Amino acid sequence: MVPTVSSSSSIRAHTHAILRHLDNSPGGRRWRLFHLGVLGTGLLAVALSTIDNLPRALDRGLTLLIVLVAGVFLAEYIVRLWSAPETPRYAGMSERRARWNWATSLTGLVGLLAVLPAFAITTRAVKADSDMAAIFCVLWVLKLGVHAPAMGTLVRVISNERATLASVFIIFMIVLIGSATATHIFERDLQPDKFGSIPDALWWSVVTLTTTGYGDVVPHTVGGKIIGSVVMVSGIVVLALMTGILAARFAEEERRGEYLRVWDQVTKVPMFAELGTVTLSEIVSKLRVRHYPPRIVVVRRDEPGDAMFFIAEGEVEVRLPHGPVRLGQGGFFGEMALLDRRPRSASIVTTKPVTLLVLYASDFYGIAARIPTLVAAVETEARRRRLENEGAAAGNGGA
Ligand code: CMP
Repeated sequence: MVPTVSSSSSIRAHTHAILRHLDNSPGGRRWRLFHLGVLGTGLLAVALSTIDNLPRALDRGLTLLIVLVAGVFLAEYIVRLWSAPETPRYAGMSERRARWNWATSLTGLVGLLAVLPAFAITTRAVKADSDMAAIFCVLWVLKLGVHAPAMGTLVRVISNERATLASVFIIFMIVLIGSATATHIFERDLQPDKFGSIPDALWWSVVTLTTTGYGDVVPHTVGGKIIGSVVMVSGIVVLALMTGILAARFAEEERRGEYLRVWDQVTKVPMFAELGTVTLSEIVSKLRVRHYPPRIVVVRRDEPGDAMFFIAEGEVEVRLPHGPVRLGQGGFFGEMALLDRRPRSASIVTTKPVTLLVLYASDFYGIAARIPTLVAAVETEARRRRLENEGAAAGNGGA
């Protein structure tokens, strides 16, 4: 008998995995590319449709395109809703409950908002060429957020640093209200329409403190100008503080994410699996994860080498003069240029989707001093490869 239930739920699990925006399978990557293409086309069509007096045929074409894009989003919404019970955090819930939870989550609501234009256009509630089209554009633009994993990092950084950011914000408010009050006192007689009250003066303060400086309101008295100078300098300091905090923490958070991604991959390379935890954690902080689709040239012959690569998943082809050699999971390449300080001896092309761990030259030389066993293993293999290539070259020369 055919196990219909388990096969349909495995199709659902597979579909759910592909639709996840972090999935790195070829299917997942193809889906993301398609999704971005449809989204870009839709946004462009909506933006163009707001132009007045477009030729009738073009206008019709754009409306059709918008309906098509909205149709794709509608289909996506239905499939996502159907596969929602596969979401790990809804494990153990009934299917209905899991779907309800997904539909009311941020992703579900954004998905629904993207679907609304389809209903609006097909039911002719609004005309696609009306100014309402701009509103659809805003709704679809929300979907772009799922293509930017850094958005999550930014939200986390703001949440983690809220106490520090709040302190800077308080300094901002003190300068803002202080300067608005001071300029109001100095300028109110000369410019009652612009500085007649503290709320009026606040506009100038915000524009000056954020270093925007529209120039529509400027102080005329000496006192007002002195306050203006102080506010401008304070604005630069406050913005520099905010930028510094966000940028430093953002980079830290990204590094932590990369560390976990490398840690996941490093266990697939036997050379690393043999290292102790402390040594391993040291090398993990130096490695970077890179994913490549098939037929991509990772290393080009005769170019200078700035990194070596360990294969965590997939396969590559080393294009040598005497014929190609394939390297699979656990293998490594690009070490010869670093050891010999010579240009690359061969080109290397991916034959399957590949996940590589990249070790840059500067880190390679540092690790050579600290983990001699690892580098000795790399050197032994490099020597073998060199001899093999020289042997093959001599054989070809003699023939
Ligand atoms: P590099 O010279 O930096 O760049 C090309 C890489 O191809 C080289 O390092 C080696 O990692 C790899 N390579 C060269 N010769 C062979 C071989 N005979 N077998 C497998 N890999 C090789």
